[in-house]
Amino acid sequence: MARERVISAEVQSEEEKHFNYALRPLSFAQYVGQDQLIKKLSIAVKAAKSRAEPVEHVLLHGPPGLGKTTLAHVIANEMGAQVHVTSGPALSKPADMVGILNRLAPGDVLFIDEIHRLSAVIEEYLYPAMEDFKVDITLDSGAHARSVTIPLPPFTLIGATTRIGLITGPMRSRFGLPLHLEFYSTDALETILRANAVVLKAESDDPSIVEIARRSRGTPRIANRLLRRVRDYAVVEGKGRLTLEITRAALKLEGIDDRGLDELDRSLLRTLIDVYNGGPAGIEALAATIGEETDTLVDVVEPYLLQIAMLMRTRQGRRATKSAYEHLGVKYQPPTGETQPLFDPGE
Ligand SMILES: Nc1ncnc2c1ncn2[C@@H]1O[C@H](COP(=O)(O)OP(=O)(O)O)[C@@H](O)[C@H]1O
Ligand SMILES: [Mg+2]
Repeated sequence: MARERVISAEVQSEEEKHFNYALRPLSFAQYVGQDQLIKKLSIAVKAAKSRAEPVEHVLLHGPPGLGKTTLAHVIANEMGAQVHVTSGPALSKPADMVGILNRLAPGDVLFIDEIHRLSAVIEEYLYPAMEDFKVDITLDSGAHARSVTIPLPPFTLIGATTRIGLITGPMRSRFGLPLHLEFYSTDALETILRANAVVLKAESDDPSIVEIARRSRGTPRIANRLLRRVRDYAVVEGKGRLTLEITRAALKLEGIDDRGLDELDRSLLRTLIDVYNGGPAGIEALAATIGEETDTLVDVVEPYLLQIAMLMRTRQGRRATKSAYEHLGVKYQPPTGETQPLFDPGE
């Protein structure tokens, strides 16, 4: 990504990772929000424990920063299991995959982040591992090549992805528990922020916490990041205490408006309205016009704009809605022609 984006839900610095680590919930009980999903998971874990079996394979999907990695560790913790962490892009050679599978002990959790980026070859190794707890490897090569099946201990695969639409059908069907993470309510974000303000030793009043929660795009990672920016601002420009006035001034400085949108969100909407007459426009065309990567728009920018109904996906492309015009203070032009919403979640 070209420019630094405070609102970006991607992990940034090492320092931030460290901070996030300190704030990560460790149990289902500590996990704030995602109530339905936590309920399903705790039933699955309890049931598996009572059978002395590992939990079924879990697929966590949803936009960045909503707690997929956190949840993978919570699940492992609740199972009392050891976690092995890897990611789709890190597994380029079959030997890497086989190596990891071979190190699994009974009941372990294998966490594969960005699982939509696994190559087709690696997926082929994973299928029998997931289904029958075995892996087929080829020894020697050429005329002497022979295939050997190695049994694996029962384990739980947890996959995480921001792009469910890019997961192949056969892959998706091998997960017993496909779970979608939703954007968090303001209430849930407030709870997270209050706990984190304590960790940060940031003294704050209620209205400032509510304000940060409201402007965090339903995303805990963004809430945590904004809290730190506001805390810094309070230390330098105020008396170290978070007040509504300090909070608003700090967020204004970060370019975050009262709906929590930042420069990039607004730039997408403004381009759509000014350059494409409100749409429809293809996401690639929009990305090229703004000078941003398509993946960033699809993964990070679009989901929240869709959620708050400022953006609409139609068969012909993206459209700005009436509330987008209103938000940017532009006179609304009702679209002409078909505007059938597109329900396909993948891109
Ligand atoms: N339910 C939650 N309760 C408290 N903090 C959370 C929760 N979900 C996420 N977080 C915080 O948000 C940060 C981002 O979560 P993470 O699991 O890395 O998201 P993802 O893997 O989906 O991108 C975490 O470091 C954690 O501090
Ligand atoms: Mg993650």
